[in-house]
This record gives sequence, structure tokens and C-alpha cells, in this order.
Amino acid sequence: MDKFIINGGKKLQGDVKISGAKNAAVAIIPAAILADGPCVLENVPIINDVSIDLKILSKMGAEVKIINNNTIQIDAKHIKDSVVPYEMARSMRASYYFFGALLSKFNHAKVSMPGGCDLGDRPIDQHLKCFKALGADYVIEHGLVDISAKQLIGTQVYFDKVTVGATINAILASVKADGLTILENAAKEPHVVDLANFLNSMGADIMGAGTDVIKIRGVNKLIGTRYSIIPDQIEAGTYMVAAAATRGNVTVRGIIPKHLEHITSKLRKTGVTVNEFDEFVQVIGKNEPYDRINIQTLPHPGFPTDMQPQFAALLTIAQGTSIITEGIFDNRFKYVDELRRMGADISVDGKVAVIEGVPKLSGAPVKAADLRAGAALVIAGLSTQGKTIIEDIHHIERGYEDIVKKLRLLGADITKKTRYESDSIGKAL
Ligand code: UD1
Repeated sequence: MDKFIINGGKKLQGDVKISGAKNAAVAIIPAAILADGPCVLENVPIINDVSIDLKILSKMGAEVKIINNNTIQIDAKHIKDSVVPYEMARSMRASYYFFGALLSKFNHAKVSMPGGCDLGDRPIDQHLKCFKALGADYVIEHGLVDISAKQLIGTQVYFDKVTVGATINAILASVKADGLTILENAAKEPHVVDLANFLNSMGADIMGAGTDVIKIRGVNKLIGTRYSIIPDQIEAGTYMVAAAATRGNVTVRGIIPKHLEHITSKLRKTGVTVNEFDEFVQVIGKNEPYDRINIQTLPHPGFPTDMQPQFAALLTIAQGTSIITEGIFDNRFKYVDELRRMGADISVDGKVAVIEGVPKLSGAPVKAADLRAGAALVIAGLSTQGKTIIEDIHHIERGYEDIVKKLRLLGADITKKTRYESDSIGKAL
């Protein structure tokens, strides 16, 4: 099994360049099949979730070309099939964007029920409600959702919950529907806006993305385009917290500081210095203990749930009691047992975690339960003296491009051991 081995306690220093946003990329790549011509996407993060998306497209008959490191071209004119290969879709939650994209292209989609990070109950009722409102019908059989429509017709949908996934799927499904679709109580995350901007650059007519009412007037045709994906706010936030936790001095480049407002403001409250510039932020940690803070995760523009575990790692070594309230998912504290192995003092009651700060953690063997839980363990391992061995790193590699390389450039002592090397280490011990 692949592992990260971290010899912690080194202050991170230097510059890190942030990659394109995972959550935008996994929506934009399926959306590219709606164009009549080739789409060139720039700033695509090369991470496992993106590789799965590209494999799905290739398997379905699209022509996918790597133009250079982070630029790819997708030409979907040869896709004839509206069925996504089962195992590929199952391994990644965001494969559910093929529902909206295929429905829009073929009036039919057959995709497995989504997998991905286990953060508790993650229904797709709001996605299905929207497809139904647009005129589609569905059956769920043998783990597959089979959706079809004679014709998609513009409609009005009020989401019972603010959901990123259903908002994006609703945009995808309605972009070529007949007439006007109005989405109310829509999600406002930057990647929702990025998807709308991408589709508009293909000739779509979408207004209001970034607010809670999005209006989509269906168009007959979408054309190929060239588009650069926004920077990943969560990757940026993760390096910002890592800089703070190691009491380092890191410049996080290639970002949109506005997307990081909550992260910046919470870091400042703990006593971290964050200097903001047009396209980068400088994060300077301090040697004295950080101050305690409370965090409640909420839909955008609230504090992002995807940054909650990383902040928890930092707060384990703050002075006093911090309280984290998870406002989005049922089960997002699966990293807590692992941080406890490292000496953290955290108790959890339902959706609330109470963290009593300790002077320091100590390295330990731990397991990444999901993507951001894994990021929290990396931060904890970097911040503390001693060796931390993180297993199940495939979760982390789903969402962080070149994490080992980027951290090593900042002075971290982190190495990846592949399954074969890990076995040899095991035998040698
Ligand atoms: C997306 C992000 C994920 C982030 C999350 C919240 C992607 C690929 N993933 O996940 O990184 O943590 O937003 O910002 O962009 N819900 C329902 N019914 C539905 C859909 C959602 O009840 O039909 C609930 C969910 O269980 C959850 C809440 O709504 O409690 C928000 O979910 P949603 O915003 O849809 O999250 P994802 O799209 O899965």
C-alpha cells in the first residue's frame, strides 16, 4: 500500500504555485462533451479524479489529447454512447456530472450511483428532482441510475438544500433545454461560477451564477472553446494552514485572494500573519502558541467544509478550546481518531468537535479516511517532530497535484513509498 513518510518539525519556507481547482475541473471536463467542436482546457490539475474523468471520456469515444503539462484538448464528436462505464464512475463522486452532461447531449444518461469520499449520507435527490422537473424520468436498478427524456423543457426549481452538485447538474441538464430554467436557492461556490463561465464561452446563456438565483436560457448549439480553470481555493488554503502549523513563511501563488477570504480571516484570528496581494498571499506563522477560534462550516460564502479538517489539525496545537461545528455533512470528523494517535485532545458530539489545544503533537502511523482528512494528517505530520506514516494516500492524491514535490520545494521532509517499496521496508524491519 502506498504511504507518505513525513519527518516533521521543519518550517515550510518559500513559494508554492497553486493548481487548477479540482471541483471546477470535474464539472468542466464532462461539460466539454456538449461542444460541437474541440475544447481546450488550461490549468487542469493532474490528479486522480481528473484522470478518471479523462479515462471515462476516452472509453466513451472522445478524443483526449494532452497538449502540455496542464492543458488538454477534448473532442467529443465521436461519443455515441450515453452510458458511463460502471467501475470508473463508481470510484469518483463527481462522475455524477455525467448525468447532467449526457442528458443534455443525448436526452439519456446511464451512470452508477456515485461513490467518492464517505462523509455520511450523500443523497442525490435534489439532482433527480431537477432532472424530473426538466421532463426526464429515471429508474434506479443494479446500482445504476438510468435517466431519459423525450425532450428537456425549461422549468423552475427550488432546491430544498443548498447543494453544489445538484446546482451544477441542473445547469448542465438545462443548458440546451427548450426555454428558460430558473434555479432558486442555488449554490454560489466559485466552481459553480467557473462552470457557468465555461459554458457561456461555448455559447450558453447563463446568468446569475454566484448568486442564489441562476437563469439559464437553453441554446441549440454549443461550440468548442479555450478556457482556463480557476485556481483551487482548497489546495491554496491547505498550504496556507500548513505554513501556519509549521510556523513557516510561505508565499502561495496563482490564486484569487477573494476566494480565500474566510480562510485568511480565520488564520488571522489565530494570530497568523497573512499579507494579501493581487494574485498571491504570504503566510507567516509565529513561534508562540496560536489563539483558539471557533469555526462553523456553511455553504459559500461561509467557511468551506473542505477546509475544516486542515484547520482542526492547526487548532490541536492552539492555546485553549476551539469548537468546530460541521454545517454541511453528517460525518466529517473521521480524522479525529487519527489526530488523537498523534496526541491531539479532541472530543466529538454529533456535528460538533471540541478541541483542547496541546503544546505539541507527536508523529505516529495514521490512515487517511478521506481526501481532506488526509490533508489534515499531512499538516499534523509536518508540524510535529518525529516520523508520521500516512496510509491510504490514494484519497489525498485524488485532490492534490504533486503534493510531495510541492511540499519538498518548501523544505518539508516527505517521501512517498509505493506499495513495492513499503513491502521491502516492512520485510527489512
Ligand atoms: C461538493 C464538493 C465537495 C464539497 C461540497 C460542499 C465537488 C465535486 N465536491 O460536494 O468537495 O465538500 O460540495 O461544499 O464539487 N444533499 C442532499 N441532496 C442532494 C445533494 C446534496 O441532501 O441531492 C446534501 C448533502 O448530503 C450535503 C449537502 O447537501 O449534506 C451539500 O452537498 P453538496 O453541496 O451537493 O456536495 P457535493 O456536490 O457532494
